[in-house]
Amino acid sequence: MSMAKRFIEMDSSDCLRTKAAKAALDQVLSVLKPSSVIGIGTGATVEIFIQLLKQSGAEFSHCVSSSERSSKALAAAGLAEQPISSCERIDFYVDGIDEGLSSGETIKGGGAALAREKVLATLAMSFITIADSDRLKLSLGAFPLPIEVLPAAELAVTRALQSLGGIPVRREGCITDNGNIILDCAGLDLSEPQLLETALNSIPGVVENGIFSCRKADCMAFSDDDGVHWLASN
Ligand code: 5RP
Repeated sequence: MSMAKRFIEMDSSDCLRTKAAKAALDQVLSVLKPSSVIGIGTGATVEIFIQLLKQSGAEFSHCVSSSERSSKALAAAGLAEQPISSCERIDFYVDGIDEGLSSGETIKGGGAALAREKVLATLAMSFITIADSDRLKLSLGAFPLPIEVLPAAELAVTRALQSLGGIPVRREGCITDNGNIILDCAGLDLSEPQLLETALNSIPGVVENGIFSCRKADCMAFSDDDGVHWLASN
C-alpha cells in the first residue's frame, strides 16, 4: 500500500470515529449534571471522545476508566479520574465496539480491556457505544471473540473452548491490566449471545468474555460518510 493511500485511509477512519464520538458527547452534554460520573471505555474511538470531552469544558464530577491506557489519556487531557475499585454508580458509560447488532448486543475486547469494560457497563445507567457503521452486523462472530483467561488455566480453557467448536488462539504479546492472557476464539455459535456469554463465564479459569449481551448497549452511534445514525435498544 502506498504511503499516500495509507494516510487517506487513516484520515477517513479517524473522521468516522470523530463523528461517532462527537454525537455521543452531544447526547451526554444534553443531560450532564455537575454530579455526573462518566465511565470511559478503551480504544482509539474513546480517546477521541476524551479529547472532545476536555475541549467541551463541561462540568461534571469525574471519570472512571476501564484501562491503564484510558487512564493515561485522561491524565494527559487533565480530566479528573476516580478508581474503578471505588465505583458504585456511573451515569454514562461510553465505549467503542468491535461488532454490534441493532438490538444492542456487542462484541468487545479488541483492546484487551473487556473485563473492566463490562464492570463499568454493568454499573452504568446509560451505556452508549460509538463506532463506524462497518461494525454494525446482522449477526455476531466474524470478529474472533476475545476471552480473558487466567494464565494458569490456558490449556484447560483452550480444551473447553474446542469442545464447544471454538478455535482459540492466544493473543501474542498481550497481558491484560489484570495480569491475564487473551484467547481470541473463532468458530463459536453466537446466535444466542446471552446463553453463550453465561456459558463461557462458567468455565473455570475464564475471567470474562467479550460478549456484551446480559448488559447490552442502550444507545449506539454508528457513523458513515452521510453522518451518524442512532440505534436504541429497549
Ligand atoms: C477494547 C474494546 C474497544 O472498545 C474496541 O476494540 C474498539 O476499539 P477502537 O475504538 O480502537 O476501534 O473493546 O477492549
